[in-house]
Amino acid sequence: MASPSQVLAILLFLLLCFPLLVKPAPGENIAVGSVITADKSNREAAAWFSRSGLFAFGFYPVENEFAVGIWFVPNNTVIWTADRDSELLPESSKLNFTEDGLQIPSSNGDRSIANISTTNSVKLASASMQDCGNFVIQDVNNYIIWQTFDYPTDTLMAGQILVAGNKMVSSVSATDQSSGRFQMVMQEDGNYVAYPVNAPATSAHFYWSSNTSGDGYTGILLNEDGDLFPIRYPNATQNSTLLSSATYLARIEPDGFLRTYNISSNSMQLTKTLPADDFGVNKCSIKGACGPNSYCNFTATAAAADSISTGFFQGKADCLCFPGFDYTDWKNRYMGCQRNFSMGQFIKDNNISYSIAKIANISWSDDPYAYTDDTTEDECGESCSEDSNCYAALFFAHQRCSKQRHPLLYGRLSESTVAFLKVGSGEMPLPPQSSLGEIVDVVPKRKTLFFIFAVASALFFSVAVTIFFFYKNRSPSYQKLCRNMETGLAGGLAPRSFTHQQLVKATDCFTKSLGNGSFSTVFKGEIPLNNGEMMPIAVKRLDEKLSEETEKGFRTEMRAVGRAHHRNVVRLLGFCHEGPKWLLIYEYMSRGSLDNLIFPSDKTQALPSWKERANIAMDVAKGILYLHEGCETTIIHSDIKPHNVLVGDDGTAKIGDLGLAKLLRPRQSKTYTRQRGTFWYQAPEWCREASEPVSPKVDVYSFGVLLLELITCRTRFLGERVNDCVILTDLAYKCLMESKLEQLVPAGEDVDKVELKKMVMVALWCVQEEPGHRKSMKEVVRMLGGNMSVAFPPDSVF
Ligand SMILES: *[C@@H]1O[C@H](CO)[C@@H](O)[C@H](O)[C@H]1NC(C)=O
Ligand SMILES: *[C@@H]1O[C@H](CO)[C@@H](O)[C@H](O)[C@H]1NC(C)=O
Ligand SMILES: *[C@@H]1O[C@H](CO)[C@@H](O)[C@H](O)[C@H]1NC(C)=O
Ligand SMILES: *[C@@H]1O[C@H](CO)[C@@H](O)[C@H](O)[C@H]1NC(C)=O
Ligand SMILES: *[C@@H]1O[C@H](CO)[C@@H](O)[C@H](O)[C@H]1NC(C)=O
Ligand SMILES: *[C@@H]1O[C@H](CO)[C@@H](O)[C@H](O)[C@H]1NC(C)=O
Ligand SMILES: *[C@@H]1O[C@H](CO)[C@@H](O)[C@H](O)[C@H]1NC(C)=O
Ligand SMILES: *[C@@H]1O[C@H](CO)[C@@H](O)[C@H](O)[C@H]1NC(C)=O
Ligand SMILES: *[C@@H]1O[C@H](CO)[C@@H](O)[C@H](O)[C@H]1NC(C)=O
Ligand SMILES: *[C@@H]1O[C@H](CO)[C@@H](O)[C@H](O)[C@H]1NC(C)=O
Ligand SMILES: *[C@@H]1O[C@H](CO)[C@@H](O)[C@H](O)[C@H]1NC(C)=O
Repeated sequence: MASPSQVLAILLFLLLCFPLLVKPAPGENIAVGSVITADKSNREAAAWFSRSGLFAFGFYPVENEFAVGIWFVPNNTVIWTADRDSELLPESSKLNFTEDGLQIPSSNGDRSIANISTTNSVKLASASMQDCGNFVIQDVNNYIIWQTFDYPTDTLMAGQILVAGNKMVSSVSATDQSSGRFQMVMQEDGNYVAYPVNAPATSAHFYWSSNTSGDGYTGILLNEDGDLFPIRYPNATQNSTLLSSATYLARIEPDGFLRTYNISSNSMQLTKTLPADDFGVNKCSIKGACGPNSYCNFTATAAAADSISTGFFQGKADCLCFPGFDYTDWKNRYMGCQRNFSMGQFIKDNNISYSIAKIANISWSDDPYAYTDDTTEDECGESCSEDSNCYAALFFAHQRCSKQRHPLLYGRLSESTVAFLKVGSGEMPLPPQSSLGEIVDVVPKRKTLFFIFAVASALFFSVAVTIFFFYKNRSPSYQKLCRNMETGLAGGLAPRSFTHQQLVKATDCFTKSLGNGSFSTVFKGEIPLNNGEMMPIAVKRLDEKLSEETEKGFRTEMRAVGRAHHRNVVRLLGFCHEGPKWLLIYEYMSRGSLDNLIFPSDKTQALPSWKERANIAMDVAKGILYLHEGCETTIIHSDIKPHNVLVGDDGTAKIGDLGLAKLLRPRQSKTYTRQRGTFWYQAPEWCREASEPVSPKVDVYSFGVLLLELITCRTRFLGERVNDCVILTDLAYKCLMESKLEQLVPAGEDVDKVELKKMVMVALWCVQEEPGHRKSMKEVVRMLGGNMSVAFPPDSVF
């Protein structure tokens, strides 16, 4: 990509910036013990300036308080902020440069900013604000211990590198530098991409991508021409000295665009915009410009046409709710919309009342749970109307009808599409909007409420559930909270609340037991729909005695399943909690749990065919992958086994029973809590020291065991000696080594030998003793799907 002369130019350029060894000029050196004071009337005393005076490090005002950061003095534009999401500081706060870092003394203990870490032997000696916009701290040997260039916020300065694995996150607004809604991420795979904060890192959510995945890039540099230039780090970070001045800055801005400015003339001139479509004018080209269930409508003003040459934004973008929805927050319309009625009323007295709204030339991010080709517009609307899973359908390209649940993401104007949306009719009005204020308040926030873009109604859900459980024990107005919860949930997949009486009726007094789960019994029931049909449901009644365990399981399951909306995860329809009674209502899976199918007690019962079993394996793998990677939070199921896999009429398998699930916070990859799943399927690390962390790899292990059981229709402990083995994993490995795989499948079964070998090898990769040796669920899905070759598994399964 880069010619030798370009590389040379970059290296020369880099020699100018990126100091590792700096000999600061007299006067700009900040010595240990230097103190600055937050003071609006005396900005000289509130900052340390660079030699040219163009950059300052110190206190900058935010309304009546202060934040610590770096700004470009001629324009007062902030390029870096320390601890941008923590609390602001009051007037006359002091910042003391000490041997250990930057301290803000206060009566209740010094606050240390920016986590500058020093070891005992290393003491800080000096700091300097450089003319390239970098603030560096050095030790007595002049080694750089810390520099702001290593911790970009929303801005990259010329010469600064965004290293793989790091990102820039936009600010809330020009005046509020806390983390906003969009990010530019330099991925480990060498691709650099822009997408909404909290959205999954998949191409469906990217609004800009460099498409350089696999090219070996390990960083991006804003080069001297103001171009973002991918580099292969660490080659490019040679020793260097100060850049004499800053020439450019690139910033991901509150509206999601990445804009580059020429600052060499001491003012800011826009030179480039990414994405460049529509010359960076159309805010609607940014995914996430409008929140869930709304669409972005851009109207170019007459002036916009002229402005295309200059690139300045002139048109007007507005976020509009889809029919049947109202703004979540009227003051911040970009936050998206929620249903304008509550789910409880949606299925009022078991009577679903809705109509279908039709709008032309509007579409959304197509992520259907089902689609049909070669259909007509009318059929499309009808098929959604008749399907209780369908909340909206999109008819496009004059032939395809794709049906979708909520939320509808990235709505926008389009051509030749027809959208159908289910709209409640004859509904009662919502409870007062104020209840939403409480919900939003739970989001951690520095000053003004701002919206962390949630990919799903998941956020509403989890927050509502938090509130629900927070108040449950203290507030008698449980009913009110249920209502709030439903409105908060208005995303459509919201579980509704049932009374115990309704469930007694639905289940015929809990007579038809379907089986037992962890701390629970499951019953069959049915609820009437308005067309006279009865909808079968599964009601899970949690044991009353184990109150603490029960409650924990209930909460966990609500949180886990409530976040999970996937074809291969059992859907939660509702819940009930009255006194000691805890119940969860699920969609009914007619063929029951997988163990009954593959280990039938009646030996004459036909086993599922090889093809069916292979499909089930893929379904389960996809379901687990979704739990691990598809949600905002990583969900570790921790009890994957055939008993917890349910199979529907059409043979689709779904994962159920999330009562033992663990939720990992974002960026947390392991947890230390433990709770035993089912011994047979447990990964070895469950049994080791309690100090050993548990990661999603425990599910991979259990899946490997399940996969072998599914292949062989035999349980893990064989109960007899087969080919000298008593344990299924040993047998599988032995048969693989001896090329006798046909011994593994039920006698006389006609199987695809290539597929069988692939599946056995995948399973053996999953049951590796060492978690690190196991494949991830993503790899498992790719291998099973034939999109990734499968290497011969190592022999460490014993
Ligand atoms: C800095 O410059 C930009 C672009 O010229 C301008 O939009 C912005 O308002 C300026 N900011 C200040 C504080 O002057
Ligand atoms: C500083 O460290 C604390 C605790 O380790 C962490 O929560 C915080 O995010 C860190 N801040 C920065 C700016 O890295
Ligand atoms: C700054 O920190 C040093 C060392 O911790 C301390 O001796 C000095 O008093 C502090 N100065 C102020 C103004 O707080
Ligand atoms: C990356 O690929 C997408 C889809 O093919 C394309 O729309 C986009 O323009 C490409 N980006 C760049 C920087 O080439
Ligand atoms: C980076 O260094 C490796 C070896 O260290 C070399 O093969 C490669 O060509 C270098 N790349 C650049 C862009 O200099
Ligand atoms: C970079 O600096 C280190 C010492 O920090 C020195 O050993 C090395 O030779 C320097 N490399 C170059 C290319 O100047
Ligand atoms: C950046 O601004 C300087 C000063 O106004 C000018 O000389 C230079 O040509 C500009 N660079 C570009 C690429 O526009
Ligand atoms: C988009 O906005 C324009 C002007 O604000 C309005 O006339 C038009 O009806 C809107 N389009 C849609 C589909 O809402
Ligand atoms: C909800 O929206 C639909 C269509 O937009 C409308 O007919 C209905 O009256 C609204 N309901 C309420 C309670 O506002
Ligand atoms: C259900 O709705 C239909 C039509 O809206 C109505 O005729 C019927 O009486 C309703 N049933 C109940 C139980 O409310
Ligand atoms: C939708 O777009 C098509 C093609 O752009 C146009 O012919 C049609 O009139 C539009 N429909 C509406 C209702 O705006």
